[in-house]
Amino acid sequence: MKVPLVDLKRQYVQIQSEIATAIQQVITDTAFVLGKYTEQFEVEFARYCQVQHCVGLNSGSDGLLLAYIACGVKAGDEVITVAHTFFATTEPLAHLGATPVFVDIDPTTYLIDPEKIEAAITPKTKVIVPVHLYGQMADMTNIMAIARKYNLKVIEDCAQAHGATHQGQKAGTFGDIGIYSFYPGKNLGAYGDAGCIVTNNSEYAQLVRKLRDHGRSSKYEYDIAGYSSRMDGLQAAILSTKLKYLEKWNKARRKAAAHYNELLPEEIKKPVETKNNRHVYHLYVIEVANRNRVLSYLTENGVEAGIHYPIPLHLQPPYSASVMSHTSLPRTEAAAKNILSLPLFPEITDEELQYIVRQVKTAIK
Ligand SMILES: Cc1ncc(COP(=O)(O)O)c(C=O)c1O
Repeated sequence: MKVPLVDLKRQYVQIQSEIATAIQQVITDTAFVLGKYTEQFEVEFARYCQVQHCVGLNSGSDGLLLAYIACGVKAGDEVITVAHTFFATTEPLAHLGATPVFVDIDPTTYLIDPEKIEAAITPKTKVIVPVHLYGQMADMTNIMAIARKYNLKVIEDCAQAHGATHQGQKAGTFGDIGIYSFYPGKNLGAYGDAGCIVTNNSEYAQLVRKLRDHGRSSKYEYDIAGYSSRMDGLQAAILSTKLKYLEKWNKARRKAAAHYNELLPEEIKKPVETKNNRHVYHLYVIEVANRNRVLSYLTENGVEAGIHYPIPLHLQPPYSASVMSHTSLPRTEAAAKNILSLPLFPEITDEELQYIVRQVKTAIK
């Protein structure tokens, strides 16, 4: 048997005719960049997140860049976040002359440990960036309390958390701005690059709208220097079509994760859904000893597993030569050595899950 880490085709075939109609409409209306399909998706996604504003963008990465700019991050500022994330979380800071300050994770959830944040705050700190990694939200109750105490802004990286909640409230709606990625493999994925920001702050929404479109105030008038970070009409129409299925797909992910939890042996560290959280299992991440050996065995036996992520950000070249070389993140580094993402997508079958578990059991012997 061969099981891919993610199979986007299985999902596409279920909605093929709806997608074809949606694409055809955009082309017929020649609404290619921004336009009515992007506006419609923005309204629908804001409603889904129960937030006032959604601004459609070309990617989650530009969402982060524009969110940092909107929050006033400038040269010399510090941003507190984790090194256990995708590079895009901190990448824009290099362009702004700001510095990421990495704190360690909670080893149970792999998410930012709120208890590590206060010690990392300095007079230069401007923003805290919790990353809701793997589909589970960070402890926003405690993070927001710290942010309020020190008057810091909060940007939530929700790239992997479409539909995740904390205390019943959706990702991206606790802090000042939330950013989402709609990269194809995400829980809500476009058929190309796309992203957005969500916020309850009208000024941030207005500024990001302007920044995504060259800083324009009218067709040939520019208030500020901006970027070309707009959402395409085609991606928006595809996302509107797929958004209707997001809850069903998230439920299927949760069911597959519960099945893994049941079948995998005791000695394997499995994902933990924290009390008051709803995990949407963008990834199903386990920890095993001899991870690289287990990964090779799975590969040889048709199971495509992954590592998210093998090298923490503080050890990557843009940071390793700087002040970050002093950073000690033992839990982050330990996780990077042992984690393994098993295949999980809404359409995965029980037979596939059983096959994967059998291979894992043999591999860890
Ligand atoms: C945690 C995290 N942040 C940011 C991004 C960047 O999003 P995008 O690929 O849409 O630019 C991603 C996804 O790739 C991600 O997983």
